[in-house]
Amino acid sequence: MQYNVVVIGSGPGGYVAAIRCAQLGMKVAIIEKYNTLGGTCLNVGCIPSKALLDSSEHFHNAAHTFKEHGIDIDSPKVNIDQMIKRKGDVVKANVDGIAFLMKKNKIDVHTGVGSFVDKNTIKITKDGKDTTITTEKVIIATGSKPTPLPFAPFDKKRIISSTEALELKEVPKHMIVIGGGVIGMELGSVYARIGAKVTVVEFLDSLIPTNDCTIGKELQKATKKLGMDFYLGHKVTAVENKGKEVVVKAEPKNGGAAVELKGDYCLVSIGRRPYTDGLGLDKVGIELDKGKIPVDNHLKTKVDNIYAIGDVVRGAMLAHKAEEEGVMVAEQLSGQKPHINYNLIPGVVYTWPEVASVGSTEEQLKEQGRAYKTGSFPYKALGRARASMDLDGLVKILADKTTDEILGVHIIGARAADMIAAGVVAMEYRASAEDVSRMSHAHPTYMEAVKEACLAATANRPIHM
Ligand code: FAD
Ligand code: NAI
Repeated sequence: MQYNVVVIGSGPGGYVAAIRCAQLGMKVAIIEKYNTLGGTCLNVGCIPSKALLDSSEHFHNAAHTFKEHGIDIDSPKVNIDQMIKRKGDVVKANVDGIAFLMKKNKIDVHTGVGSFVDKNTIKITKDGKDTTITTEKVIIATGSKPTPLPFAPFDKKRIISSTEALELKEVPKHMIVIGGGVIGMELGSVYARIGAKVTVVEFLDSLIPTNDCTIGKELQKATKKLGMDFYLGHKVTAVENKGKEVVVKAEPKNGGAAVELKGDYCLVSIGRRPYTDGLGLDKVGIELDKGKIPVDNHLKTKVDNIYAIGDVVRGAMLAHKAEEEGVMVAEQLSGQKPHINYNLIPGVVYTWPEVASVGSTEEQLKEQGRAYKTGSFPYKALGRARASMDLDGLVKILADKTTDEILGVHIIGARAADMIAAGVVAMEYRASAEDVSRMSHAHPTYMEAVKEACLAATANRPIHM
Protein backbone atom coordinates (compact mmCIF):
# COMPACT_ATOMS: atom_id res chain seq x y z
CA MET A 1 0.00 0.00 0.00
CA GLN A 2 1.33 3.48 -0.93
CA TYR A 3 0.62 6.46 1.37
CA ASN A 4 1.37 10.16 1.35
CA VAL A 5 2.09 10.02 5.10
CA VAL A 6 2.75 7.24 7.58
CA VAL A 7 2.62 8.15 11.27
CA ILE A 8 4.41 5.81 13.70
CA GLY A 9 2.80 5.97 17.16
CA SER A 10 -0.78 6.88 18.04
CA GLY A 11 -0.38 9.13 21.11
CA PRO A 12 -1.64 12.73 21.08
CA GLY A 13 1.21 13.69 18.74
CA GLY A 14 0.63 10.88 16.28
CA TYR A 15 -3.15 10.69 16.13
CA VAL A 16 -3.54 14.47 15.86
CA ALA A 17 -0.91 14.59 13.08
CA ALA A 18 -2.78 11.82 11.26
CA ILE A 19 -6.15 13.60 11.53
CA ARG A 20 -4.75 16.96 10.39
CA CYS A 21 -2.95 15.31 7.42
CA ALA A 22 -6.21 13.57 6.44
CA GLN A 23 -8.17 16.84 6.78
CA LEU A 24 -5.68 18.38 4.36
CA GLY A 25 -6.37 15.68 1.76
CA MET A 26 -3.46 13.30 2.30
CA LYS A 27 -3.72 9.50 2.27
CA VAL A 28 -2.63 8.53 5.77
CA ALA A 29 -1.73 5.42 7.76
CA ILE A 30 -1.02 5.23 11.47
CA ILE A 31 0.93 2.39 13.09
CA GLU A 32 0.48 1.52 16.77
CA LYS A 33 2.14 -1.40 18.51
CA TYR A 34 -0.56 -1.76 21.17
CA ASN A 35 -4.12 -2.84 20.45
CA THR A 36 -5.59 0.45 21.62
CA LEU A 37 -4.88 3.88 20.18
CA GLY A 38 -4.08 7.03 22.16
CA GLY A 39 -0.55 6.29 23.39
CA THR A 40 0.71 7.02 26.89
CA CYS A 41 -1.65 9.93 27.40
CA LEU A 42 -4.94 8.11 26.92
CA ASN A 43 -3.93 4.65 28.15
CA VAL A 44 -1.50 5.13 31.03
CA GLY A 45 -1.01 8.89 31.41
CA CYS A 46 -3.13 12.03 31.35
CA ILE A 47 -6.58 10.46 31.22
CA PRO A 48 -6.35 7.60 33.75
CA SER A 49 -4.41 9.77 36.21
CA LYS A 50 -7.06 12.49 36.02
CA ALA A 51 -9.81 9.88 36.52
CA LEU A 52 -8.14 8.73 39.75
CA LEU A 53 -7.42 12.30 40.82
CA ASP A 54 -11.11 13.13 40.47
CA SER A 55 -12.30 9.99 42.28
CA SER A 56 -9.86 10.47 45.15
CA GLU A 57 -10.78 14.15 45.45
CA HIS A 58 -14.46 13.21 45.76
CA PHE A 59 -13.56 10.75 48.51
CA HIS A 60 -11.43 13.32 50.29
CA ASN A 61 -14.21 15.88 50.21
CA ALA A 62 -16.81 13.36 51.37
CA ALA A 63 -14.56 12.44 54.29
CA HIS A 64 -13.33 15.91 55.20
CA THR A 65 -15.39 18.82 53.91
CA PHE A 66 -18.97 17.59 53.44
CA LYS A 67 -19.70 17.92 57.18
CA GLU A 68 -18.81 21.59 57.18
CA HIS A 69 -21.00 22.11 54.12
CA GLY A 70 -23.87 20.65 56.17
CA ILE A 71 -23.91 17.24 54.51
CA ASP A 72 -23.91 14.39 57.02
CA ILE A 73 -23.03 10.99 55.67
CA ASP A 74 -21.75 7.84 57.34
CA SER A 75 -17.98 7.53 57.08
CA PRO A 76 -17.26 6.98 53.39
CA LYS A 77 -15.15 3.96 52.44
CA VAL A 78 -12.81 3.51 49.50
CA ASN A 79 -13.72 0.79 47.00
CA ILE A 80 -10.42 0.63 45.15
CA ASP A 81 -11.63 -2.03 42.70
CA GLN A 82 -14.49 0.22 41.59
CA MET A 83 -12.20 3.27 41.46
CA ILE A 84 -9.79 1.43 39.16
CA LYS A 85 -12.66 -0.04 37.12
CA ARG A 86 -14.19 3.40 36.54
CA LYS A 87 -10.76 4.66 35.48
CA GLY A 88 -10.65 1.75 32.99
CA ASP A 89 -14.07 2.72 31.63
CA VAL A 90 -12.94 6.32 31.17
CA VAL A 91 -9.83 5.13 29.29
CA LYS A 92 -11.93 2.84 27.11
CA ALA A 93 -14.35 5.61 26.14
CA ASN A 94 -11.43 7.81 25.15
CA VAL A 95 -9.44 5.23 23.16
CA ASP A 96 -12.59 4.08 21.40
CA GLY A 97 -13.16 7.73 20.50
CA ILE A 98 -9.76 7.83 18.75
CA ALA A 99 -10.57 4.64 16.80
CA PHE A 100 -13.81 6.36 15.68
CA LEU A 101 -11.88 9.47 14.60
CA MET A 102 -9.48 7.33 12.54
CA LYS A 103 -12.45 5.78 10.70
CA LYS A 104 -14.18 9.12 10.26
CA ASN A 105 -11.05 10.59 8.67
CA LYS A 106 -10.38 7.46 6.55
CA ILE A 107 -7.01 6.83 8.19
CA ASP A 108 -5.73 3.25 7.89
CA VAL A 109 -4.79 1.85 11.29
CA HIS A 110 -2.05 -0.81 11.32
CA THR A 111 -1.46 -2.65 14.59
CA GLY A 112 2.14 -3.79 15.15
CA VAL A 113 5.64 -2.43 15.68
CA GLY A 114 6.63 -0.04 12.91
CA SER A 115 10.27 0.05 11.80
CA PHE A 116 12.22 1.57 8.94
CA VAL A 117 13.33 -0.61 6.04
CA ASP A 118 14.44 2.52 4.22
CA LYS A 119 13.28 6.14 4.22
CA ASN A 120 10.13 5.34 2.22
CA THR A 121 9.38 1.80 3.37
CA ILE A 122 8.01 0.84 6.78
CA LYS A 123 7.78 -2.69 8.10
CA ILE A 124 4.95 -3.58 10.48
CA THR A 125 5.62 -6.57 12.73
CA LYS A 126 2.83 -8.29 14.59
CA ASP A 127 2.93 -11.75 16.16
CA GLY A 128 6.12 -12.56 14.27
CA LYS A 129 4.61 -11.64 10.87
CA ASP A 130 5.87 -8.73 8.76
CA THR A 131 4.05 -6.57 6.23
CA THR A 132 5.44 -3.49 4.51
CA ILE A 133 3.92 -0.24 3.36
CA THR A 134 5.48 2.58 1.36
CA THR A 135 5.09 6.30 1.84
CA GLU A 136 6.29 9.71 0.72
CA LYS A 137 6.62 11.16 4.24
CA VAL A 138 7.00 9.69 7.72
CA ILE A 139 6.12 11.27 11.07
CA ILE A 140 7.75 9.57 14.06
CA ALA A 141 5.64 9.98 17.21
CA THR A 142 6.84 7.09 19.35
CA GLY A 143 6.69 8.97 22.66
CA SER A 144 8.45 8.14 25.91
CA LYS A 145 8.75 5.62 28.75
CA PRO A 146 9.40 6.03 32.50
CA THR A 147 13.05 6.41 33.51
CA PRO A 148 14.17 3.80 36.07
CA LEU A 149 16.71 4.40 38.82
CA PRO A 150 20.02 3.04 37.52
CA PHE A 151 20.48 0.87 40.61
CA ALA A 152 16.87 -0.28 41.10
CA PRO A 153 14.99 -1.25 37.93
CA PHE A 154 11.18 -1.39 38.01
CA ASP A 155 10.09 -4.81 39.28
CA LYS A 156 6.46 -3.72 38.76
CA LYS A 157 5.47 -5.21 42.15
CA ARG A 158 7.05 -3.09 44.86
CA ILE A 159 9.23 -0.77 42.76
CA ILE A 160 6.71 0.67 40.35
CA SER A 161 6.29 3.34 37.68
CA SER A 162 3.20 5.47 37.04
CA THR A 163 1.82 2.66 34.84
CA GLU A 164 1.54 0.24 37.77
CA ALA A 165 0.50 3.03 40.15
CA LEU A 166 -2.62 3.47 38.00
CA GLU A 167 -3.59 -0.18 38.50
CA LEU A 168 -3.04 -0.91 42.19
CA LYS A 169 -5.34 -3.50 43.71
CA GLU A 170 -5.10 -2.10 47.24
CA VAL A 171 -4.59 1.22 48.96
CA PRO A 172 -0.91 1.27 49.93
CA LYS A 173 -0.13 1.53 53.62
CA HIS A 174 2.96 3.60 52.91
CA MET A 175 3.86 4.72 49.41
CA ILE A 176 7.38 6.11 49.05
CA VAL A 177 7.59 8.39 46.05
CA ILE A 178 11.00 9.08 44.53
CA GLY A 179 10.83 12.35 42.58
CA GLY A 180 8.61 15.24 43.66
CA GLY A 181 7.81 16.31 40.10
CA VAL A 182 4.50 16.15 38.28
CA ILE A 183 3.80 12.42 38.48
CA GLY A 184 5.04 12.12 42.06
CA MET A 185 2.78 14.92 43.25
CA GLU A 186 -0.29 13.88 41.21
CA LEU A 187 -0.22 10.17 42.00
CA GLY A 188 1.17 10.76 45.49
CA SER A 189 -1.85 12.94 46.26
CA VAL A 190 -4.27 10.36 44.82
CA TYR A 191 -3.09 7.77 47.35
CA ALA A 192 -2.67 10.26 50.21
CA ARG A 193 -6.31 11.32 49.77
CA ILE A 194 -7.59 7.76 50.02
CA GLY A 195 -5.70 6.91 53.16
CA ALA A 196 -2.12 5.95 52.26
CA LYS A 197 0.81 7.44 54.09
CA VAL A 198 2.87 9.08 51.34
CA THR A 199 6.50 10.17 51.66
CA VAL A 200 8.18 12.04 48.81
CA VAL A 201 11.96 11.99 48.39
CA GLU A 202 13.12 14.72 46.00
CA PHE A 203 16.70 15.39 44.94
CA LEU A 204 16.30 19.16 44.50
CA ASP A 205 15.33 21.66 47.20
CA SER A 206 11.78 22.22 45.96
CA LEU A 207 8.81 20.21 44.74
CA ILE A 208 7.89 20.59 41.02
CA PRO A 209 11.23 22.39 40.68
CA THR A 210 10.83 23.55 37.09
CA ASN A 211 7.94 25.78 38.23
CA ASP A 212 8.30 29.24 39.75
CA CYS A 213 9.82 28.67 43.22
CA THR A 214 6.87 30.32 45.01
CA ILE A 215 4.56 27.64 43.64
CA GLY A 216 6.59 24.64 44.85
CA LYS A 217 6.53 26.04 48.39
CA GLU A 218 2.76 26.62 48.29
CA LEU A 219 2.16 23.11 46.94
CA GLN A 220 4.24 21.65 49.74
CA LYS A 221 2.18 23.53 52.35
CA ALA A 222 -1.10 22.44 50.77
CA THR A 223 -0.21 18.78 50.33
CA LYS A 224 1.29 18.58 53.82
CA LYS A 225 -2.31 19.02 54.98
CA LEU A 226 -3.08 15.69 53.27
CA GLY A 227 -0.47 14.14 55.54
CA MET A 228 2.21 13.90 52.84
CA ASP A 229 5.79 13.98 54.12
CA PHE A 230 8.78 15.34 52.25
CA TYR A 231 12.51 14.80 52.17
CA LEU A 232 13.72 17.55 49.87
CA GLY A 233 17.38 17.85 48.86
CA HIS A 234 17.83 14.11 49.38
CA LYS A 235 19.75 11.72 47.16
CA VAL A 236 18.38 8.19 47.04
CA THR A 237 21.18 5.68 47.47
CA ALA A 238 19.33 2.35 47.57
CA VAL A 239 15.89 0.87 46.90
CA GLU A 240 15.33 -2.76 47.75
CA ASN A 241 12.33 -5.03 47.30
CA LYS A 242 12.22 -7.20 50.44
CA GLY A 243 9.14 -9.18 49.42
CA LYS A 244 6.30 -7.64 51.43
CA GLU A 245 8.04 -4.33 51.85
CA VAL A 246 10.40 -2.01 50.07
CA VAL A 247 13.26 -0.21 51.77
CA VAL A 248 14.52 3.15 50.51
CA LYS A 249 17.73 4.76 51.72
CA ALA A 250 18.51 8.42 51.08
CA GLU A 251 21.10 10.97 52.16
CA PRO A 252 20.76 14.74 52.44
CA LYS A 253 22.74 16.26 49.55
CA ASN A 254 24.44 18.75 51.79
CA GLY A 255 25.46 16.34 54.50
CA GLY A 256 23.64 15.13 57.60
CA ALA A 257 22.06 11.91 58.75
CA ALA A 258 20.91 9.33 56.20
CA VAL A 259 17.27 8.22 56.28
CA GLU A 260 15.82 4.76 55.85
CA LEU A 261 12.16 4.49 54.85
CA LYS A 262 10.07 1.33 54.79
CA GLY A 263 6.92 1.11 52.73
CA ASP A 264 4.84 -1.34 50.71
CA TYR A 265 5.22 0.49 47.36
CA CYS A 266 7.94 2.69 45.94
CA LEU A 267 6.79 4.84 43.04
CA VAL A 268 9.79 5.96 40.99
CA SER A 269 8.85 9.14 39.11
CA ILE A 270 12.16 10.75 38.20
CA GLY A 271 11.27 11.69 34.64
CA ARG A 272 10.57 9.99 31.33
CA ARG A 273 12.89 9.20 28.44
CA PRO A 274 12.24 9.20 24.71
CA TYR A 275 11.30 5.84 23.23
CA THR A 276 12.80 4.64 19.95
CA ASP A 277 13.42 0.92 20.59
CA GLY A 278 12.88 -1.28 17.55
CA LEU A 279 12.29 1.68 15.23
CA GLY A 280 15.29 0.86 13.02
CA LEU A 281 16.58 4.44 12.95
CA ASP A 282 19.98 3.08 11.86
CA LYS A 283 18.37 2.03 8.55
CA VAL A 284 17.83 5.70 7.71
CA GLY A 285 20.96 7.08 9.37
CA ILE A 286 19.26 8.99 12.21
CA GLU A 287 21.41 9.16 15.35
CA LEU A 288 20.00 10.07 18.74
CA ASP A 289 21.10 13.07 20.77
CA LYS A 290 20.80 12.21 24.50
CA GLY A 291 18.11 9.70 23.58
CA LYS A 292 16.05 12.21 21.57
CA ILE A 293 15.56 12.36 17.82
CA PRO A 294 17.26 15.57 16.65
CA VAL A 295 14.98 17.85 14.62
CA ASP A 296 15.26 21.34 13.14
CA ASN A 297 12.82 24.22 13.72
CA HIS A 298 10.42 22.57 11.27
CA LEU A 299 10.54 19.29 13.22
CA LYS A 300 12.35 17.70 10.31
CA THR A 301 15.06 15.10 11.02
CA LYS A 302 18.28 14.99 9.03
CA VAL A 303 16.40 12.83 6.48
CA ASP A 304 14.32 15.19 4.38
CA ASN A 305 11.06 13.19 4.27
CA ILE A 306 11.12 12.14 7.94
CA TYR A 307 9.73 14.31 10.76
CA ALA A 308 9.53 13.67 14.51
CA ILE A 309 7.19 15.14 17.13
CA GLY A 310 6.11 14.92 20.77
CA ASP A 311 7.97 13.30 23.65
CA VAL A 312 10.56 11.74 21.35
CA VAL A 313 11.99 15.19 20.45
CA ARG A 314 13.27 18.14 22.51
CA GLY A 315 10.96 20.26 24.66
CA ALA A 316 8.29 19.70 27.29
CA MET A 317 6.86 16.18 27.49
CA LEU A 318 3.24 17.28 27.35
CA ALA A 319 0.26 16.02 25.38
CA HIS A 320 -0.79 19.45 24.09
CA LYS A 321 2.79 20.22 22.97
CA ALA A 322 2.81 16.94 21.03
CA GLU A 323 -0.58 17.84 19.49
CA GLU A 324 0.60 21.28 18.36
CA GLU A 325 3.64 19.67 16.77
CA GLY A 326 1.46 17.12 14.97
CA VAL A 327 -0.62 19.94 13.49
CA MET A 328 2.47 21.93 12.59
CA VAL A 329 4.08 19.10 10.62
CA ALA A 330 0.82 18.26 8.81
CA GLU A 331 0.27 21.87 7.79
CA GLN A 332 3.86 22.23 6.60
CA LEU A 333 3.45 19.12 4.46
CA SER A 334 0.50 20.79 2.75
CA GLY A 335 2.53 23.93 2.03
CA GLN A 336 1.36 26.12 4.93
CA LYS A 337 3.71 28.04 7.23
CA PRO A 338 2.55 27.29 10.79
CA HIS A 339 4.42 28.32 13.93
CA ILE A 340 4.49 27.21 17.55
CA ASN A 341 5.28 29.65 20.35
CA TYR A 342 6.98 27.20 22.74
CA ASN A 343 7.17 29.89 25.44
CA LEU A 344 3.38 29.82 25.61
CA ILE A 345 2.82 26.09 26.08
CA PRO A 346 1.13 26.02 29.50
CA GLY A 347 2.02 23.48 32.16
CA VAL A 348 -0.46 22.06 34.67
CA VAL A 349 -0.17 19.84 37.72
CA TYR A 350 -3.55 18.35 38.62
CA THR A 351 -3.09 18.24 42.38
CA TRP A 352 -5.63 20.06 44.54
CA PRO A 353 -5.02 22.91 44.64
CA GLU A 354 -4.10 22.73 40.96
CA VAL A 355 -0.93 24.31 39.63
CA ALA A 356 -0.82 26.02 36.24
CA SER A 357 1.69 28.27 34.61
CA VAL A 358 2.72 29.86 31.35
CA GLY A 359 5.69 31.96 30.28
CA SER A 360 8.80 32.66 32.32
CA THR A 361 9.40 31.92 35.98
CA GLU A 362 10.96 34.52 38.27
CA GLU A 363 14.16 32.44 38.36
CA GLN A 364 14.35 32.46 34.53
CA LEU A 365 13.86 36.25 34.37
CA LYS A 366 16.63 36.72 36.95
CA GLU A 367 18.91 34.47 34.93
CA GLN A 368 18.14 36.46 31.76
CA GLY A 369 18.88 39.70 33.64
CA ARG A 370 15.48 41.04 32.61
CA ALA A 371 14.02 43.91 34.65
CA TYR A 372 10.63 42.73 35.92
CA LYS A 373 8.00 43.43 38.52
CA THR A 374 5.68 41.01 40.29
CA GLY A 375 2.18 41.10 41.67
CA SER A 376 0.41 38.37 43.58
CA PHE A 377 -2.95 37.81 45.14
CA PRO A 378 -3.98 35.05 47.57
CA TYR A 379 -7.04 32.87 47.04
CA LYS A 380 -8.05 33.36 50.69
CA ALA A 381 -9.00 36.97 49.89
CA LEU A 382 -11.53 35.85 47.24
CA GLY A 383 -15.23 35.59 48.01
CA ARG A 384 -15.48 32.66 45.60
CA ALA A 385 -12.73 30.74 47.41
CA ARG A 386 -14.41 31.31 50.78
CA ALA A 387 -17.70 30.03 49.39
CA SER A 388 -16.11 26.80 48.21
CA MET A 389 -13.61 26.51 51.10
CA ASP A 390 -10.76 26.36 48.57
CA LEU A 391 -8.62 28.91 50.39
CA ASP A 392 -5.16 27.58 49.53
CA GLY A 393 -3.29 29.20 46.69
CA LEU A 394 -2.30 32.39 44.93
CA VAL A 395 -1.84 33.99 41.54
CA LYS A 396 1.55 35.48 40.69
CA ILE A 397 2.03 37.73 37.68
CA LEU A 398 5.44 38.68 36.30
CA ALA A 399 5.55 41.71 34.02
CA ASP A 400 8.26 43.70 32.26
CA LYS A 401 9.36 46.53 34.53
CA THR A 402 9.17 49.19 31.82
CA THR A 403 6.53 48.07 29.31
CA ASP A 404 4.27 46.21 31.77
CA GLU A 405 3.97 43.31 29.24
CA ILE A 406 3.02 40.09 31.03
CA LEU A 407 5.98 37.69 31.01
CA GLY A 408 4.67 34.90 33.21
CA VAL A 409 1.46 33.75 34.90
CA HIS A 410 1.76 31.28 37.79
CA ILE A 411 -1.28 29.99 39.59
CA ILE A 412 -1.77 27.54 42.41
CA GLY A 413 -5.37 27.19 43.47
CA ALA A 414 -8.77 25.75 42.66
CA ARG A 415 -9.40 25.44 38.90
CA ALA A 416 -5.99 26.83 37.94
CA ALA A 417 -5.86 24.27 35.11
CA ASP A 418 -8.75 25.94 33.31
CA MET A 419 -7.82 29.50 34.28
CA ILE A 420 -4.38 29.35 32.68
CA ALA A 421 -5.93 29.56 29.19
CA ALA A 422 -6.67 33.23 29.97
CA GLY A 423 -2.97 33.75 30.69
CA VAL A 424 -2.06 32.13 27.37
CA VAL A 425 -4.48 34.38 25.48
CA ALA A 426 -3.23 37.50 27.25
CA MET A 427 0.40 36.65 26.55
CA GLU A 428 -0.26 35.57 22.95
CA TYR A 429 -1.73 39.05 22.35
CA ARG A 430 1.13 40.59 24.35
CA ALA A 431 -1.20 42.18 26.89
CA SER A 432 0.17 44.34 29.67
CA ALA A 433 -0.75 43.66 33.29
CA GLU A 434 -2.75 46.90 33.19
CA ASP A 435 -4.73 45.66 30.13
CA VAL A 436 -5.90 42.62 32.08
CA SER A 437 -6.52 44.60 35.27
CA ARG A 438 -8.87 46.93 33.39
CA MET A 439 -11.01 44.12 31.93
CA SER A 440 -14.19 43.16 33.74
CA HIS A 441 -13.91 39.79 35.48
CA ALA A 442 -17.15 38.15 36.62
CA HIS A 443 -17.78 38.15 40.35
CA PRO A 444 -17.44 35.93 42.27
CA THR A 445 -14.87 33.88 40.35
CA TYR A 446 -11.38 32.56 40.95
CA MET A 447 -10.30 34.59 37.91
CA GLU A 448 -10.68 37.74 40.00
CA ALA A 449 -7.37 36.73 41.59
CA VAL A 450 -5.71 37.14 38.17
CA LYS A 451 -7.18 40.63 37.80
CA GLU A 452 -6.09 41.55 41.32
CA ALA A 453 -2.57 40.14 40.80
CA CYS A 454 -2.33 42.23 37.62
CA LEU A 455 -3.43 45.30 39.58
CA ALA A 456 -0.75 44.48 42.13
CA ALA A 457 1.90 44.06 39.41
CA THR A 458 1.00 47.17 37.45
CA ALA A 459 0.46 49.71 40.20
CA ASN A 460 0.59 47.90 43.52
CA ARG A 461 -3.07 48.68 44.08
CA PRO A 462 -5.14 45.49 44.46
CA ILE A 463 -8.67 46.35 45.58
CA HIS A 464 -9.35 43.51 48.01
CA MET A 465 -6.02 43.40 49.89
P1 FAD B 1 2.92 8.80 23.46
O1 FAD B 1 1.63 9.24 23.99
O2 FAD B 1 3.90 8.17 24.38
O3 FAD B 1 2.56 7.78 22.29
C1 FAD B 1 3.53 7.07 21.59
C2 FAD B 1 2.90 5.84 21.01
O4 FAD B 1 3.79 5.25 20.08
C3 FAD B 1 2.61 4.76 22.04
O5 FAD B 1 1.28 4.33 21.94
C4 FAD B 1 3.57 3.63 21.67
O6 FAD B 1 3.02 2.34 21.92
C5 FAD B 1 3.72 3.86 20.19
N1 FAD B 1 4.95 3.31 19.62
C6 FAD B 1 6.21 3.48 20.07
N2 FAD B 1 7.09 2.87 19.23
C7 FAD B 1 6.34 2.31 18.26
C8 FAD B 1 6.67 1.58 17.09
N3 FAD B 1 7.95 1.32 16.76
N4 FAD B 1 5.66 1.14 16.31
C9 FAD B 1 4.38 1.41 16.63
N5 FAD B 1 4.01 2.12 17.70
C10 FAD B 1 4.99 2.58 18.49
N6 FAD B 1 0.66 15.39 29.61
C11 FAD B 1 -0.21 16.42 29.65
O7 FAD B 1 -0.12 17.31 28.80
N7 FAD B 1 -1.19 16.49 30.60
C12 FAD B 1 -1.31 15.54 31.55
O8 FAD B 1 -2.21 15.63 32.39
C13 FAD B 1 -0.42 14.46 31.55
N8 FAD B 1 -0.52 13.49 32.47
C14 FAD B 1 0.36 12.44 32.43
C15 FAD B 1 0.26 11.47 33.43
C16 FAD B 1 1.12 10.40 33.43
C17 FAD B 1 1.00 9.35 34.51
C18 FAD B 1 2.09 10.27 32.40
C19 FAD B 1 3.01 9.08 32.36
C20 FAD B 1 2.21 11.22 31.41
C21 FAD B 1 1.34 12.34 31.43
N9 FAD B 1 1.43 13.35 30.48
C22 FAD B 1 0.57 14.41 30.53
C23 FAD B 1 2.44 13.32 29.41
C24 FAD B 1 1.80 12.82 28.10
O9 FAD B 1 1.24 11.55 28.32
C25 FAD B 1 2.83 12.76 27.00
O10 FAD B 1 3.48 14.02 26.89
C26 FAD B 1 2.16 12.46 25.67
O11 FAD B 1 1.50 11.21 25.74
C27 FAD B 1 3.19 12.43 24.55
O12 FAD B 1 2.55 12.12 23.36
P2 FAD B 1 3.32 11.41 22.17
O13 FAD B 1 2.33 11.32 21.07
O14 FAD B 1 4.60 12.08 21.91
O15 FAD B 1 3.70 9.96 22.69
P1 NAI C 1 9.39 15.35 36.33
O1 NAI C 1 10.53 15.76 35.51
O2 NAI C 1 8.18 16.16 36.40
O3 NAI C 1 9.87 15.18 37.84
C1 NAI C 1 10.93 14.35 38.19
C2 NAI C 1 11.43 14.80 39.54
O4 NAI C 1 12.31 13.82 40.03
C3 NAI C 1 12.19 16.12 39.50
O5 NAI C 1 11.68 16.97 40.50
C4 NAI C 1 13.63 15.72 39.75
O6 NAI C 1 14.37 16.71 40.42
C5 NAI C 1 13.44 14.47 40.60
N1 NAI C 1 14.54 13.49 40.53
C6 NAI C 1 15.23 13.11 39.44
N2 NAI C 1 16.10 12.15 39.78
C7 NAI C 1 15.94 11.91 41.11
C8 NAI C 1 16.54 11.01 42.04
N3 NAI C 1 17.48 10.16 41.68
N4 NAI C 1 16.11 11.06 43.31
C9 NAI C 1 15.15 11.91 43.71
N5 NAI C 1 14.56 12.79 42.86
C10 NAI C 1 14.94 12.77 41.59
O7 NAI C 1 9.09 13.83 35.88
P2 NAI C 1 7.86 12.86 36.19
O8 NAI C 1 7.11 13.34 37.37
O9 NAI C 1 8.42 11.50 36.20
O10 NAI C 1 6.96 13.05 34.92
C11 NAI C 1 7.51 12.85 33.62
C12 NAI C 1 6.92 13.80 32.66
O11 NAI C 1 5.59 13.40 32.33
C13 NAI C 1 6.76 15.21 33.20
O12 NAI C 1 7.95 15.95 33.08
C14 NAI C 1 5.70 15.77 32.33
O13 NAI C 1 6.28 16.21 31.14
C15 NAI C 1 4.83 14.55 32.05
N6 NAI C 1 3.65 14.59 32.91
C16 NAI C 1 2.81 15.64 32.80
C17 NAI C 1 1.71 15.74 33.60
C18 NAI C 1 0.84 16.93 33.47
O14 NAI C 1 0.97 17.67 32.51
N7 NAI C 1 -0.08 17.17 34.40
C19 NAI C 1 1.37 14.72 34.58
C20 NAI C 1 2.35 13.66 34.64
C21 NAI C 1 3.42 13.60 33.81
